[in-house]
Amino acid sequence: MKVLGLETSCDETGLAIFDSEQIDSDNQGLLGQVLYSQIELHALYGGVVPELASRDHIRKLVPLFNELLAQCDISKDEIDAVAYTKGPGLIGALMTGALFGRSLAYGLGIPAIGVHHMEGHLLAPLMGANPPAFPFVSLLVSGGHTLLIAARGVGQYEILGESIDDAAGECFDKAAKMLNLPYPGGPNIAKLAENGDPSAYDLPRPMLHRGLDFSFSGMKTAVHNLIKDTEGSGSGSDSNPQVRADIAASFQHAVVDTLVKKCVKALKQAEMSRLVIAGGVSANIHLRETLEAELAKINATVHYAPPALCTDNGAMIAYAGYERLQAGQADDLAVSCVPRWPMTELPAV
Ligand code: KG4
Ligand code: ZN
Repeated sequence: MKVLGLETSCDETGLAIFDSEQIDSDNQGLLGQVLYSQIELHALYGGVVPELASRDHIRKLVPLFNELLAQCDISKDEIDAVAYTKGPGLIGALMTGALFGRSLAYGLGIPAIGVHHMEGHLLAPLMGANPPAFPFVSLLVSGGHTLLIAARGVGQYEILGESIDDAAGECFDKAAKMLNLPYPGGPNIAKLAENGDPSAYDLPRPMLHRGLDFSFSGMKTAVHNLIKDTEGSGSGSDSNPQVRADIAASFQHAVVDTLVKKCVKALKQAEMSRLVIAGGVSANIHLRETLEAELAKINATVHYAPPALCTDNGAMIAYAGYERLQAGQADDLAVSCVPRWPMTELPAV
């Protein structure tokens, strides 16, 4: 089954084709993918402007679709089903992909399904070279979500913990802004941190010993205070590159330390030995390396998708759609997008 995946929930227009008959050791069914990022469009405003995002998706969807068909060397009649992101996300942006996908499927006489964006992230590591088996604990860390989930099958999700305020990715983005680094902040902080000392500054780890929920807003305030305290001194983050790198490294270390300790706790609580990390922040190398080291100590393993499948993309939507389509699920002709959509409401497969 060849499934076209469409991702337009935020600021990336991602399209891909997943082919369940092309699964072998080095190609997990991904026939091809194209991605257009609107980062430059929104950079001027320091964050995503919803109306601009919707308009740009509309401009790019058809040319990207044609580019994808050429890349995969197939015609549109060879597509068996369409999966589009139905939520959560920006309503206008979601509608562009949903309407394009639903109409295309109607025109071709094939089924369509609306996919939960976070389920797309959660299942993306299953497209990796060494896919983990259920059950596993999933750490979903993106720009809008920080979730710890016990996943017992597709659609069988129990929330173990979540952020009570900012998401981990959002915290990276805000800290980056304070350091005058461009959006999205995560990769830029990580790059700056390469030359910094992670133990230079002792930043707080909020709620570390309280259950499995997270809180990142205190960490953001601590970075803000640290920058203010050092500014103007001639050796501050405004003038001294080493201080900037040390702040980035200390911040990254504090976020990673918090995430890793909660993951270890979640694995023990759920009595599971596999951890799957997904979402934009799971591309972070320091997070991956620290998890590898810490989980080895408790005989647990960590699994993640290749970096290109960690941030928003069409492949994860195609794959999550495939999992549901092959179980007989599909949506009717009505297009309804859901800006807020708890994962626990998803039906099991
Ligand atoms: O999953 P994603 O692409 O989009 C959402 O669904 O939100 O995640 C984007 C987030 C941004 O906050 C970005 O700063 C963060 O993921 N991110 C990273 C890295 N790459 C992306 N954070 C830390 N380290 C990275 N290497
Ligand atoms: Zn995402």
